[in-house]
Amino acid sequence: ITSNFYYDTELSHNNMLSRFLSSASARHANHVRTLATFDKVGIIGLGLMGHGICQAAAMANNSSQIVAFENEQGFLDGGKTRIENSLNTMVKKERISRDDADAALNRIVFTTDVSQIANADFIVEAVIENIDLKKSLYSQLGAECKPETIFASNTSSLSITEMAESSGRPDKFVGVHFFNPVQLMKLVEVVRTEHTDPDVYDKAFAWVQEIGKVAVACNDTPGFIVNRLLVPSLMQAMAMVDRNDASVKDIDISMKLGAGHPMGPLHLADYIGLDTCLFIVEGWVENFPDERAFIIPDCLKAKVAAGDLGRKSGRGFYNWDGERRGDPVS
Ligand code: 3HC
Repeated sequence: ITSNFYYDTELSHNNMLSRFLSSASARHANHVRTLATFDKVGIIGLGLMGHGICQAAAMANNSSQIVAFENEQGFLDGGKTRIENSLNTMVKKERISRDDADAALNRIVFTTDVSQIANADFIVEAVIENIDLKKSLYSQLGAECKPETIFASNTSSLSITEMAESSGRPDKFVGVHFFNPVQLMKLVEVVRTEHTDPDVYDKAFAWVQEIGKVAVACNDTPGFIVNRLLVPSLMQAMAMVDRNDASVKDIDISMKLGAGHPMGPLHLADYIGLDTCLFIVEGWVENFPDERAFIIPDCLKAKVAAGDLGRKSGRGFYNWDGERRGDPVS
């Protein structure tokens, strides 16, 4: 890591923000939208995270065109349904108006045609956490997208630097790490490698702020800020289960009422997905064997092997009925 890697982002963010002047030409659903950092934003992958990122981008009060890409029609339709459901919930809860919800949805171009994102200015990738798949995707995007396109991965634990190298344009590559549920969680970690061009980084940072999130800066390190602190604590909670130190319910109540967390660690692990948790720690244990904070609890391995993945499969540390958490699995 070179010394100019640690530049001060604050000043340049303010400069970027001053660019968001009102644009009379950017009108949508009776709103005057602000000039966007990126004219065209592509989102690749409309799964758990990708659909939320796409929705957040489409709800922003800027003038960007939003293109959502999935390579299979079924996944594309599934992502669109998730966005519709979330927007409907927001309307029902009177957080947004029906007009705003319709405007956000109508703003998204849903496509299975990769050529529709080839001229995007900014592409956020949220495909499954498989480094080989991501590297091959980035090598394809690097060849097909216009030279100026900036790539941003939403990976939670893989190396941004490795993906950036595959893209053939490591200077135009950042991480933008969102949190689940994207619609409600305000934070986005904006991750830079030692190759990231400072101007590219500032634009990505400004875009995150423009879509209403709070951006924090981080270098390309395992787990960035939040997961580096959060995931080891989830693993410690599971290690307590392995040792039978306390019950699932009592561990969760303790961290809710004793530490003020919105969800206990085992509830949260179910919410994130136990397969995702296992994937993250397995990768870390393999790549950073000397880091003692990275452990793989037995109960996590056993649950994932049994197909008990948490909320998404209906059973993990708790029984789930859709979005509703039930009692702990006995
Ligand atoms: N879209 C729209 N609205 C939604 C929604 C969605 N997807 N999900 C929930 N809502 C609404 C609900 O309808 C509800 O509305 P109301 O307040 O008007 O009734 C409101 O949002 C709050 O939801 P809940 O009633 O379910 O209750 P909570 O007050 O418990 O809030 C929570 C939910 C924000 C998820 C909160 O429990 C929380 O902050 N939990 C911790 C989440 C967390 O830590 N996430 C990070 C995980 S780590 C990660 O993502 C990184 C990855 O790399 C692993």
